[in-house]
Amino acid sequence: MPARLIDGKAAAAHLIDRVSLAVAHLVTEQRLQPGLAVVLVGDDPASEVYVRNKARQTVAAGMRSFEHRLPASTSQAELLALVRRLNADPAVHGILVQLPLPPQLDEGEVIEAIDPAKDVDGFHPINVGRLSIGAPALVPCTPYGCSLLIREVLPEPAGLHAVVVGRSNIVGKPMAQLLLAMHCTVTIAHSRTRDLPAFARSADILVAAVGRPQMVRGDWIKPGACVIDVGINRVPADEPGKTRLVGDVAFAEAVEVAGAITPVPGGVGPMTIACLLRNTVIAACRQHRLPEPADL
Ligand code: GUN
Repeated sequence: MPARLIDGKAAAAHLIDRVSLAVAHLVTEQRLQPGLAVVLVGDDPASEVYVRNKARQTVAAGMRSFEHRLPASTSQAELLALVRRLNADPAVHGILVQLPLPPQLDEGEVIEAIDPAKDVDGFHPINVGRLSIGAPALVPCTPYGCSLLIREVLPEPAGLHAVVVGRSNIVGKPMAQLLLAMHCTVTIAHSRTRDLPAFARSADILVAAVGRPQMVRGDWIKPGACVIDVGINRVPADEPGKTRLVGDVAFAEAVEVAGAITPVPGGVGPMTIACLLRNTVIAACRQHRLPEPADL
């Protein structure tokens, strides 16, 4: 029997509904309208699309959106000055600096300049540290979205073996921390892991976050496993001149073996922006010492 498809589009829409209700409540009861500032340096077309989508969905959820577009030639001092202005702006509750930055800019220094209370990406070392010790943190959006999708099919994942393939700061490492917090036994595998397929085959929960199109094959998957595909790779389509999106998992093979699997597109992707909006509401509540909405 083919695997159950995990519908990230529907899960994201439900989360955005709950975020929108929480925002409406904050606006009417507390006169607090959460605001998200997004900073884009340069004119990378993919980043441009992400930033436009973020702004549109932020406004659709009832929040304020502040877009800052800086030229590719922006200096470190100019970018840091903007971040400090946003840190001090009481209308801004969340700050996201779109990565990657142009090569002359020091990403680490920029991330560390963001007020950890406004760091809705969860990339600041303070939030990374808090997540790792189980303290209240702002958690990176993509892995947080993956954890919500996992819970949809495995409400009680305690004791299961989770294998995360990929060790990036944005996905792999925080994903492993979240799975640990869910009481899974966690393995982080990566491109240098010896016999990667054997590690993958031992996973009850397999998260693929490597950025290599269709690397995880059907015979890498334990029958019945929950497979979360974080990859978004553009590859040539059958029709000449056209492209299509594929994940890090060979879906047609994997769907015959897994118990549940996220499709690409329509799986993890839509959850990322939904979780960003969720983090912005959480950040606004914490900054104003208000209770956090229980269903977020
Ligand atoms: N670029 C790709 N993914 C992300 C993300 O989650 N946050 C930021 N800031 N930049 C990104």
